[in-house]
Amino acid sequence: MVHQAEYLTGRGTEISSILAGGYAHPLTREWQNERQLTKNMFIYPLFISDSPDEEFLIETLPGQKRWGVNKVVPYVGELIKKGLRSVILFGVPLKNGSKDPEGTSADDPEGPVIQATKALKAAFPDLYIMADVCLCEYTSHGHCGVLFEDGTINRVESVKRIAAVAVNYAKAGVDCVAPSDMIDGRIREIKLGLIEANLAHKTFVMSYSAKFSGNLYGPFRDAACSSPGQGDRRRYQLPTGGSGLARRALRRDIEEGTDGIICKPSTFYLDVMAQAAEIGKDYPICAYHVSGEYAMLHAAAEKGIVDLKTIAFEANNGFLRAGARLIISYFTPDFLEWLD
Ligand code: PBG
Ligand code: ZN
Repeated sequence: MVHQAEYLTGRGTEISSILAGGYAHPLTREWQNERQLTKNMFIYPLFISDSPDEEFLIETLPGQKRWGVNKVVPYVGELIKKGLRSVILFGVPLKNGSKDPEGTSADDPEGPVIQATKALKAAFPDLYIMADVCLCEYTSHGHCGVLFEDGTINRVESVKRIAAVAVNYAKAGVDCVAPSDMIDGRIREIKLGLIEANLAHKTFVMSYSAKFSGNLYGPFRDAACSSPGQGDRRRYQLPTGGSGLARRALRRDIEEGTDGIICKPSTFYLDVMAQAAEIGKDYPICAYHVSGEYAMLHAAAEKGIVDLKTIAFEANNGFLRAGARLIISYFTPDFLEWLD
């Protein structure tokens, strides 16, 4: 007697070669995900200026705005109703004279990050507030640290200044500090600063450990007015081919006491993310879907090359496959709707 399956498919078909039955239904397709995208994975970047009533559309970052403190609170309130759990703040000082070689305005008590932290915490005590810690938005030269006269990074002075800024953000009430400067030794300096200030037990240190230099941060620098005046960031951000350096930076930041790891950019560096998930398997790994990647997907969708929602899911599922558990994304408001 010929078995019915054999009769239909022809002889020689291995039973195990038929995979399609495993994902024929929308639900079984979702069952194939080792991890599901959920709203609590998303961290929304917010650009906050020192002009309290600003609401400025950033042309190169579609749909994203730079906010004054007064305007950002009601906007975040709307997103919280849709399920937003966390934001990461970037300060943008616009006032004349607010930039100097040491980035003094980074932790100005009247400055945008500290003011926005206080306003958001007062309005939404449960919102998890992260602060990007860097000097480039606040320095007159636009570099991420303090410089020697020859324009190279003064490491010792830089990490001291960056740690002081991180501690002041924590004092103001941020739940997490995320140093993005990539200058050697800052995680240790920040941890020590938090310990001395009695804040280490309640402040998460999220290191941008594997951050590569390249061509994908342009819209961010428009939004944050943080392009370097001279030179570029290649002396402190990793070279794109440097996966060995990324592994060393990851191990180093783990040894220095980081609580979590950011990989950035994301789509072009999924191998690095997968290695970070391996090296840092005991740590939450966060993908930063950066401004250039976001803008590129929008541009492609506008040209009809891709469908925006489908491609956004495809990108983010890639981050999860690679091992990320958290995602910093300008798509966050969209996903809060898409994941309903
Ligand atoms: C500041 C910082 C940058 C980004 C995050 N923090 C810019 C840079 O390093 O030049 C980029 C984020 C993005 O492009 O969305 N150091
Ligand atoms: Zn910087």
